Amino acid sequence: MNNRRNFLKQASLLSVGAFTTNIATPVFAIANRRQESARADSLTVPPYLQNLTATSVYVMFITAVKSYSWIEYEGQNGAVQKAHMEEDGLYDAYVKLNKIYISGLQPGRTYRYRVCSKPITLFEPYKLEYGEEVRTAWFTFNTPATDAQEASCVVLNDIHDSPEAFGKLLSLVKDRPYEFVALNGDTFHYQTDEQQIVDHLLLPCTNIFASQKPFLMIRGNHETRGKFRREFKNYFALPDDKYHFSFEQGPIFWVVLDTGEDKPDDHPVYAGIVDFDGVRERQAKWLAEVVETKAYKKAKYRVVLMHIPPHHSGDWHGPMHCQKLFSPIFEANNVDLVIAGHTHRYGVHPPDSNHTYPIVIGGGSKDGSRTIMHVAANTQQLHLDMIRDDGEKVGEYTVKAR
Ligand SMILES: [Fe+2]
Repeated sequence: MNNRRNFLKQASLLSVGAFTTNIATPVFAIANRRQESARADSLTVPPYLQNLTATSVYVMFITAVKSYSWIEYEGQNGAVQKAHMEEDGLYDAYVKLNKIYISGLQPGRTYRYRVCSKPITLFEPYKLEYGEEVRTAWFTFNTPATDAQEASCVVLNDIHDSPEAFGKLLSLVKDRPYEFVALNGDTFHYQTDEQQIVDHLLLPCTNIFASQKPFLMIRGNHETRGKFRREFKNYFALPDDKYHFSFEQGPIFWVVLDTGEDKPDDHPVYAGIVDFDGVRERQAKWLAEVVETKAYKKAKYRVVLMHIPPHHSGDWHGPMHCQKLFSPIFEANNVDLVIAGHTHRYGVHPPDSNHTYPIVIGGGSKDGSRTIMHVAANTQQLHLDMIRDDGEKVGEYTVKAR
């Protein structure tokens, strides 16, 4: 998906004044401003960032009606550029869900951007009419520096259709730096429709952080369930359109795995239409190649995010299959930390006779047992704090740099 799409940039589309770093304004709060305003009814979901790298980002949003939309963005040189999507000669238009790729960015810079959109009110073969063009306020994001010596993020897991949990948990780290939010599985019970994704994920996250910082959608076993499970992926921009991927963040090399379902593929509840053994086996082959890369080998810290932990998660088929396939690779290649969820029992499990790497499992899925993890690394150490939703620190772990 990422590579077969093209995007358009037009330098100096508009001349603008001095660059200012705005604190993002909620898109609905500026409805009465002219020029830089989005009508209150123009966007169902304000922009949310995905797959931010040192030189590129995806901006996603949902319009209320079928529209032609684009992004205007500018770096510190003040030249506004335009990005939109095109495939097979056709712009992405007459759509509501937008996924716009911006590339050619400079590492370690602040950019500002806004969504521009024109509703398509008439679409006939030889006649097309637009409604009023709208523009949101400016939002900002920072591209990571390629040689960053520090890195930070937060990890949430097992939210299970509780949109109010995002605000509550993220308020516990509001004074700490974080560059992205990892959603480590089971954000939902099962996938029903778009409205569920909007109400239980996108609006809570854009209200707090997602227009300025990306989130990683990591699939848990519950995201594999429900009639909307296949459409689910359309709402995110995953590297290479896969639920498993790796990336570097300063001194950290991250590996994200899709641990699939917890029961055997032939269990009656799956009705013969899943192959999670295949998903895990393909990832094990992929992971065996990843750990041979120079980036993995030279990283100061190697950290795995996976929903189902390879130990401390019972003896059902899914956890045992993860243990059999992934754990030997972790052990042979000096994984420094595994961060997981799934069990709804938070805990820090240092290396022991069953696993040579530490495993930190986040809590959930009810109030009083939810957790948020904060990860911060520099050239000396990586430190993780796990904080329960009542504000109490319930776990921590430190990894010394290699
Ligand atoms: Fe789970």
